[in-house]
Amino acid sequence: MGKVGAVILAAGLGKRMKSDVPKVLHKIANKPMLQYVIDAVSPVVDGIIVVIGHKKELLEEYLRGKGLGWSVQEELAGTGDAVASAYSSLGGYSEVFILPGDTPLVTTDTLKGLKDKFYSSGADLVVGVFSPDDPSGYGRVILDTNGRVMKIVEDKDATEEQLQIRDVNAGMYMVRTRLLGEIIQRISNNNVQGEYYLTDVVEMLYNEGYRVESYRMEEVEAMGVNNKYELSVAYEILRKRKLHELMVDGGVIVVDPQSTFIDMDVKIGRDTVIHPFTFVEGKSVIGGRCNIGPMVRVINSNIGDGVLIRENCTLEDSVVRDEAKVGPFAYLRLGVVVKERAFVGKFVEIKKSTIGEGSKVPHLSYIGDAIVEEGVNIGAGTITCNYDGKKKNPTVIRKGVFIGSDTMLVAPVEVGKYAYTGAGSVITRDVPPYSLGIARAKQRNIKDWALRRKNK
Ligand code: UD1
Ligand code: MG
Repeated sequence: MGKVGAVILAAGLGKRMKSDVPKVLHKIANKPMLQYVIDAVSPVVDGIIVVIGHKKELLEEYLRGKGLGWSVQEELAGTGDAVASAYSSLGGYSEVFILPGDTPLVTTDTLKGLKDKFYSSGADLVVGVFSPDDPSGYGRVILDTNGRVMKIVEDKDATEEQLQIRDVNAGMYMVRTRLLGEIIQRISNNNVQGEYYLTDVVEMLYNEGYRVESYRMEEVEAMGVNNKYELSVAYEILRKRKLHELMVDGGVIVVDPQSTFIDMDVKIGRDTVIHPFTFVEGKSVIGGRCNIGPMVRVINSNIGDGVLIRENCTLEDSVVRDEAKVGPFAYLRLGVVVKERAFVGKFVEIKKSTIGEGSKVPHLSYIGDAIVEEGVNIGAGTITCNYDGKKKNPTVIRKGVFIGSDTMLVAPVEVGKYAYTGAGSVITRDVPPYSLGIARAKQRNIKDWALRRKNK
């Protein structure tokens, strides 16, 4: 067995999307549908070539740096032409998959099944076949008495009789690369659409005595997304699939799947409870025994074990370590690290800062560009004044510090270990370790002031 490649066809116009964005770059759960096909086939191949054409600059930009190859189809002259344009990139592969770029529901299991069929049957070509209730629009698959594929007739070219056939072509194939190369040169565009049909390869191979097998697959996996309604249908299916996998395979408790939105690449540990109206997005990872939500949004963040994220929090590109507590109403963004057993409470915004082990920011604070070491208590209403109008400046709060309520920490500034700041202080200079920094007007009480006011 040599190396196996995949050609993903993504040059088409996608007119029905009514969009300036190429069809295959439309996102489902924050991931382009092309990427779903790439992710599904990657585990069963050694390399991938994407055929691009329409809006190719945008596709190139997306594909760059991902370890994938691409080839450009100059003119969109049909699926046969698309494959021919990629052929020169396939030299290293003895077999190739050919897949459409707009079928985000196809799974690795199915592609593996197709591959197994290819090798176990000794086929030269395997065609993915399914039988929808309504076959219209698809190429009809004509099988011989041995269940081998004799030919595929496109909907527009089919006779009345052929149109009755329910077996249709999924547009997914595996084929010997060299054979494909020889035959693809010989297809013509002599058909109703004037296109070079990849499907013509089937009849040519069959007639020349090659073995063309079919592989049965579920209709849902072959579903192509052609407009924005179908995009939402695909999302609903993928969303349910992901929730099912999390609950059944992963042991995650999803209280209300109807109102829970979890992106495909998210990982969640067992016995974690996801409460309603919660969104977990991108490459987020959540450990076990956590309680998340209700009404929480976690974006590209990493949450440890036994973490509590209470209602109405947003976490973006942040890390929350084991047994920490966040919220309600907290916003963590841009590389925040909340360390073990720390607590970030009500109406607190934290940006680009580290909150040390067991430290507490319980209420109404803004902490930006700060390092807060372990065992620190930050009083309500504390603000790091990190921005001087030109640049962001750092604040350092050493271990065991007690920041009095409503302290303004005018950065750059450092509060030394075990020091205190007096409530309401505007701290503009460093506070040495073990000291009290106090910077506020001294109180004076004016005797009988209120009485005099009243008698005026
Ligand atoms: C194709 C099959 C049909 C099958 C159906 C399954 C052919 C001739 N027909 O029809 O038998 O039932 O898929 O969905 O192959 N593309 C290019 N360059 C082109 C034309 C298309 O890259 O010049 C790409 C498209 O972007 C798309 C894929 O190839 O990802 C399939 O093309 P499409 O036009 O959708 O083919 P269908 O008419 O649906
Ligand atoms: Mg199509």
